[in-house]
Amino acid sequence: MSSCELRESLDVVLNFLNNDEKHTVLVVDDEENNLQLLKRTLRGQYNILTAHNGSEALDIVKQYGDKISLIVSDQKMPVMEGTEFFKHVRETNPQIIKILLTGHVDTDIIVSSINDCDLFQYILKPFEPEELKIAVESGITKYSMSYNNKIFYKELRELFYKTIRAISNALDTKDSYTNGHSLRVTLYSMILAKQLGLDEDYMEDIEIAGLLHDIGKIAMPKSILCKNGKLTDEEFAIMKSHPVRGEKIVINIKKLQMISEWVKSHHERWDGKGYPDALKGENIPLAGRIIALADTYDAMTSTRPYRTALSHETAISEIKRCAGTQFDPRLADIFVSLSDEIDDARKNPEEAYKKYSFLAKNINFKISKETTTQQS
Ligand SMILES: [Fe+2]
Repeated sequence: MSSCELRESLDVVLNFLNNDEKHTVLVVDDEENNLQLLKRTLRGQYNILTAHNGSEALDIVKQYGDKISLIVSDQKMPVMEGTEFFKHVRETNPQIIKILLTGHVDTDIIVSSINDCDLFQYILKPFEPEELKIAVESGITKYSMSYNNKIFYKELRELFYKTIRAISNALDTKDSYTNGHSLRVTLYSMILAKQLGLDEDYMEDIEIAGLLHDIGKIAMPKSILCKNGKLTDEEFAIMKSHPVRGEKIVINIKKLQMISEWVKSHHERWDGKGYPDALKGENIPLAGRIIALADTYDAMTSTRPYRTALSHETAISEIKRCAGTQFDPRLADIFVSLSDEIDDARKNPEEAYKKYSFLAKNINFKISKETTTQQS
């Protein structure tokens, strides 16, 4: 490549990096005249990148693939044929639309390139500039539709998780004594679930379940929820209805149907003395057993109207003592073995949430300090 060509290529690259309005099209042809014709035909409407062979083109795709919407490539080229080049592109950047230029009709090449390269269209050479323009325009429309669908899906997902966080934060701030409770329970549950080697989907669900485990408390009267002292038997009976109320709220959301069972079971006990269904042992969903441990640890290490917070060490001793009665003994053992990690998360939930969260990985939540700072 001459210094003049190099300069021209650099200008094109800089131009397209600075110009987000136009789509970027990569044109690949070993014959300089053809390359210039392709460039002239398309450059008014698009940012154009050029390459003289498949190998050079692959380097460009590797570097700028995310910004390229469409590739027009010649089939017959030295170094690498157009179809071979497209196969590589399909693997690394499947979203890019591909148009092949061929000198003659070879049905085998055309059929296999449609199948193997996910080819959008082929154009016979010599081509009419208008024909190329129409093909590229259709390809760009297809690219935009698929891109917009992806954005729409991402936005929906973002809205879904932001809503869950908003509900969870609203719940945590309803009672000043449980400020940040749902987030910390989520964290401890995730630390335990991660140690159990549960898959990413399960981890994401357990994160949602942790955030929503006490959602039924939204229906509890504030006089009971924020009572400054021990609850009467009658008040406690009302309070005990929150897992079932939570289940009823969550079950209406299709994506959260499985989680509703976990919400319902977070006050069950391993020995069958819990509520609402007095389930025993492994009849309690695994996530329910995990959240129960996390929930009790957080209750013990938080100040409540009727007592001050227990130390981390005392809470861990209690968990050891209650393994096999209140808690699943295997989970309790693992929880105790994760004592340092749990303690670190308790002291700095904001940082820990960034580390463990699957939801926050997808979108950047702003976690407000007031909702994560533990009462002391
Ligand atoms: Fe609860």
